Amino acid sequence: MDVFRIQGGARLVGEVHITGAKNSSLKLMAVALLAPGKTTIRAVPNILDVTIMAELLRRLGCSVSYSAETETVEIDVPATIEHRADYDLVRRMRASIAVLGPLVARTGAADVALPGGDAIGSRGLDMHTAGLERMGATVANEHGYLVVHAPDGGLVGTHVYLDFPSVGATETLLMAAVTANGVTVIDNAAREPEIVDICNMLLAMGAQIDGVGTSLLTITGVSSLKAVEHTTVADRIVAGTWAVAAVITGGDITVRNANSEHLSIALEKLVTAGAEVEITNDGFRVQMNKRPTAIDVVTLPYPGFPTDLQPQFIALNSIAEGSAMVTENLFEARFRFVQELTRLGAEVRTDGHHALIRGRSQLSGAPVEATDIRAGAGLVLAGLVADGETTVHAIDHIDRGYVDFEKQLSKLGANIIRETSPQLS
Ligand code: EPU
Repeated sequence: MDVFRIQGGARLVGEVHITGAKNSSLKLMAVALLAPGKTTIRAVPNILDVTIMAELLRRLGCSVSYSAETETVEIDVPATIEHRADYDLVRRMRASIAVLGPLVARTGAADVALPGGDAIGSRGLDMHTAGLERMGATVANEHGYLVVHAPDGGLVGTHVYLDFPSVGATETLLMAAVTANGVTVIDNAAREPEIVDICNMLLAMGAQIDGVGTSLLTITGVSSLKAVEHTTVADRIVAGTWAVAAVITGGDITVRNANSEHLSIALEKLVTAGAEVEITNDGFRVQMNKRPTAIDVVTLPYPGFPTDLQPQFIALNSIAEGSAMVTENLFEARFRFVQELTRLGAEVRTDGHHALIRGRSQLSGAPVEATDIRAGAGLVLAGLVADGETTVHAIDHIDRGYVDFEKQLSKLGANIIRETSPQLS
């Protein structure tokens, strides 16, 4: 298991280039299942989850190749596909659930292993299954698998109201509805940029979707879809992480190939913290030349403040002037990493959905452990400003969301290396 060894204190200066969003690419690969033929997806990040999704698609009968050099995945989908997603892959990556909708749509059935618990919360699937049932499917939980069958004539369009704008449930129902009989309305749909990206690919494939980018999606089923070429939307969370990196280190980072509109609230928060943010023609530049002021944050579905930037903002608040309240509304266990942050001397108290952070003028380097992707990013950011050495363990989590993170950080001036951690005998 590798670790990051960080010597704190460097000011990060320079330029980074953002590639496609993990949370879009993986779903776009599942979307490919909806059309026989050859789909090409560009700007797919070189991360383990892409390898896992590629393997899942292969087991369903597809030929899949990925080039890390061009960040392109090619998926050849046969006329007939399998309908089972095994536990050995699903347990490694919750995004595997993205094949559920396409499998029911294409084959009339799906056996998808239940992903189970997760380090950031319970993450139910009730809205996915309730929506499919409303479209006429039967759903059973058998031997650890979600077993879904569409009615004989296929799924039937209907009105689905989501209790909460779940990203995953919106995606499942969207992918199930594009070739269903009649019209499906998804009310209170999630409208994250990654959902818009999926809609755009589906539209290019021949789907009929109204209300893209809104919380009311109206989908008129079509009989078939065609394979297309598509480029993944830029990763707003990676871009936002770089923005925080600039502010926390008192640096100056230009983020290229990012869409600043997808980060409006987060960038606005950084301005409130004292940063200078300049919107450029292909992204933004963030400069900071003083100690940040503490900023309150409340996570909400898009266009609210993203939960995937919450740990990075807690790290920022831990060295800010003043106190801040961070409220987490999406994943109940996302504050687990706070325990690790306090090992660096951060003063954070959590109570249910709330974390109260009292900014300290200095953190103190220590060994810490990443508990999930974003927690890992938050701990690295904290390590960059901690006095002395911080070692971040379990960085396989970080590798799942940030390609060559340490190399990019080094390029900007950080003192960070990847090391293979000594094994206990
Ligand atoms: N939920 C239910 N029932 C459902 C669906 C969701 O109770 O049927 C709950 C979940 O338990 C959770 C909340 O609703 O508490 C939000 O879940 P949502 O479905 O919106 O999220 P997701 O699809 O599981 C995706 C991203 C997450 C990101 C969230 C919110 C992927 C693979 N994951 O998760 O990304 O935080 O949307 O934006 O797309 C990450 O990248 O680090 C990450 C965790």
